[in-house]
Amino acid sequence: MKLAICPGSFDPVTNGHLQIVSRAAEMFDRVIVVAMANQNKQPLFSAEERVELLRRATAGMANVEVDTYDGLLVEYARQKQASVIVKGLRAMSDFEYEFQMALTNRKLNPDVETVFLATSAEYMYLSSSLVKQVASLGGDIREFVPACIIKDILEKYGREETQ
Ligand code: PNS
Repeated sequence: MKLAICPGSFDPVTNGHLQIVSRAAEMFDRVIVVAMANQNKQPLFSAEERVELLRRATAGMANVEVDTYDGLLVEYARQKQASVIVKGLRAMSDFEYEFQMALTNRKLNPDVETVFLATSAEYMYLSSSLVKQVASLGGDIREFVPACIIKDILEKYGREETQ
C-alpha cells in the first residue's frame, strides 16, 4: 500500500492543484491532500474552510482523502507512515523554493521522498494568488477553479455568483 501526501496551502484549491492530485491518485494506492500553513502567506480561507473546499473538489476521486495539519510536513508524513510527498512544478520560478523545501524535508526525514510532477501547459500560469486577485477585482474565475467552490470564493469578496 503506497501512500502519498499532496501538501499545500490550497487557498483556495485550483484546477491546477486538482490535476496534480488526480495524477498522484493514479500513481499511488492512496493520496492524502493536506491543507497546511505556509508561514510566508496570510490565508484568505481558514484551515477548516480550505479542507471543506478540497473535500468538495476531490469528492469524485475514490482513493483521495483530505486533511489539515498545523506543524511540520515531515512529522505529518511520519504519523501517517507516508513515504512520498507529491508536489506540482509549474515553471523554473517554482523550482528554487520547491527544491529548498524538498532538501530540508529530506534532511529532517530521509525516509520521505519528494516527487515533482510537471504541471500541464494548460495550468502553468495558474496560482491561488492569481485566482484571488481576479476574483477580488470582479473578474471571471470559472476557468481557474472547480464550479463547486466558485460561490465560496466570490462570497469572500462580497460578490454573487452571476456568471
Ligand atoms: O501551496 P504552498 O503555499 O506552496 O505550500 C507550502 C507548504 C504549506 C507545503 C509548506 O509551507 C509547508 O510544508 N508547510 C508546513 C511546515 C513545514 O513543514 N515547513 C518546512 C518545509 S521545508
